[in-house]
Amino acid sequence: MNIVLIGYMGSGKSLIGRGLADKMKLNYLDLDDFIEIQEKKSIKKIFDDQGEIYFRKKESLYLKEVLDTYENTIISLGGGTPCFAGNLETVINKENTKSLYLQTSLEELTKRLFAERNKRPLISHIATSNELKDFVRKHLFERSFYYNQADYKVITDQKNKDQISEEVIALLF
Ligand code: S3P
Repeated sequence: MNIVLIGYMGSGKSLIGRGLADKMKLNYLDLDDFIEIQEKKSIKKIFDDQGEIYFRKKESLYLKEVLDTYENTIISLGGGTPCFAGNLETVINKENTKSLYLQTSLEELTKRLFAERNKRPLISHIATSNELKDFVRKHLFERSFYYNQADYKVITDQKNKDQISEEVIALLF
């Protein structure tokens, strides 16, 4: 069984995924890290050098590779992964695979992302917190259509890492 974590940038996919894998004695894989290793470049550098379309093509290929080759693994996707190239269908139709949406409020996402926006190519150009909030509001609205098709959903607001992990475990195991 593989468990795929989806959610917007800053929703805690990597943090929760790592903690969950520890608790459940499963492997952990972050699709962004996998892409960086395969491409020998940071995500930011891939966006800068080759552009988003190249990144999305590779992301889709590596997603399939990961789902085909890993077992007993918690896999966290990039925030955009389920929203492009039929990737959501790939996850949903994959046998022995469950998907879980980590849902975080606009306010919380804006707060978390403003501090670390320089590391994220899609939002690094945004200057103020209000501008970021507007961007995330629209983007999240578009992306929620995909995120909400996950098999399970956990709301992360006002919960710490352990509480979220316990909730996920109760839902999935
Ligand atoms: C992206 C999210 C990032 C990374 C890339 C694009 C997106 O992953 O895949 O910068 O489109 O939302 P995280 O959600 O892990 O930050």
